[in-house]
Amino acid sequence: MNIIEVVRSARGVLGGLAQQIPVVGAAAQRDRIDLDGKVVFITGAARGIGAEIARQAYAKGAYVSLVGRTMAPLEELAAQLGSRAAAFNADVSDFEALEKAAAATIAQFGGIDVVVANAGIAPPPDTLLTIDPKEFERGIDIDLMGQWRTIRATLPAVVENHGHVVVVSSIYAFFNGALNSPYAASKAAIEQLTRALRVELAPHGATAGVAYPGFVKTDMADSTFAIDHVDEARKALPGFVTDPIPVEQIGSAIIGGIERRSAKVASPWWVLPMLQARGVVTTVMDEFMIHNAGLSKAILRAEATHRDPS
Ligand SMILES: NC(=O)c1ccc[n+]([C@@H]2O[C@H](COP(=O)([O-])OP(=O)(O)OC[C@H]3O[C@@H](n4cnc5c(N)ncnc54)[C@H](OP(=O)(O)O)[C@@H]3O)[C@@H](O)[C@H]2O)c1
Repeated sequence: MNIIEVVRSARGVLGGLAQQIPVVGAAAQRDRIDLDGKVVFITGAARGIGAEIARQAYAKGAYVSLVGRTMAPLEELAAQLGSRAAAFNADVSDFEALEKAAAATIAQFGGIDVVVANAGIAPPPDTLLTIDPKEFERGIDIDLMGQWRTIRATLPAVVENHGHVVVVSSIYAFFNGALNSPYAASKAAIEQLTRALRVELAPHGATAGVAYPGFVKTDMADSTFAIDHVDEARKALPGFVTDPIPVEQIGSAIIGGIERRSAKVASPWWVLPMLQARGVVTTVMDEFMIHNAGLSKAILRAEATHRDPS
């Protein structure tokens, strides 16, 4: 038995024990979700992971509500997909716009079964000493508050349909966030928020789960890795961690997690064992990063760009 099988069987035993505990109301409703005919509301659906989830959900027969701040690519994707797809305009910094997108989705498709809270940004890779405070706060506003607003705006519909919410966090929920702290703080916070949500939804017969992608080959990873000091920091870390996976891989992991109503979705292969052993992993990781000469150089180089922007 390899480590992944051990982790899976331990989770199976613990999950089975937990299911013996009596629960109130409709909490026992943990049936699988068949996406055929279901309505999936996705933020940040224009590109990257959001667009891939939309494509895969559509291929399984779902109605897809493509939500985002830039209409042209959303409309283009909706046209490529077909009549079960529609584009709706909402910036996740705007709660009312998200409420309107949810209402428009319900008006067009009859309800919302699944929410994929996915929209996110990569704030400038900088340190707490030198990051522009406005950039720090914008990171939190989109990557944490944007997820909260998405959840709140769609939750009444999800509860009504006993649906599922998947919140796209990241390995940064538990990775050290050096040079990436507003992002890491947001991803850790939305993990907490989603764990609470999963428990709060149980009496309603609905579910929620966290997705923990490693690095994924999208515009976000490409543009971040193109920055010199990030590339330097990346080279200081083990290659298997920083090699991006194809977007199709995380897309199918998240779709499978929705169908199983999973509490956790992790990809690539090494994320789940690290997640399960996070107490040890995070201690070792922090020490490794503190003593890593390449990373220290990258940090000082990031800070130096503020003294010499060229
Ligand atoms: N790529 C990775 O390595 C990786 C790893 C772990 C987790 N993630 C997470 O996965 C999610 C998707 O990332 P990605 O790699 O697919 O990024 P991406 O290719 O940059 O796409 C991000 C999407 O989010 C949208 N978006 C950004 N800010 C928004 C806002 N204020 N309101 C509405 N939509 C907004 C973008 O819209 P526009 O097209 O209008 O800009 C775009 O469609 C993010 O939450 C990210 O943190 C990514």
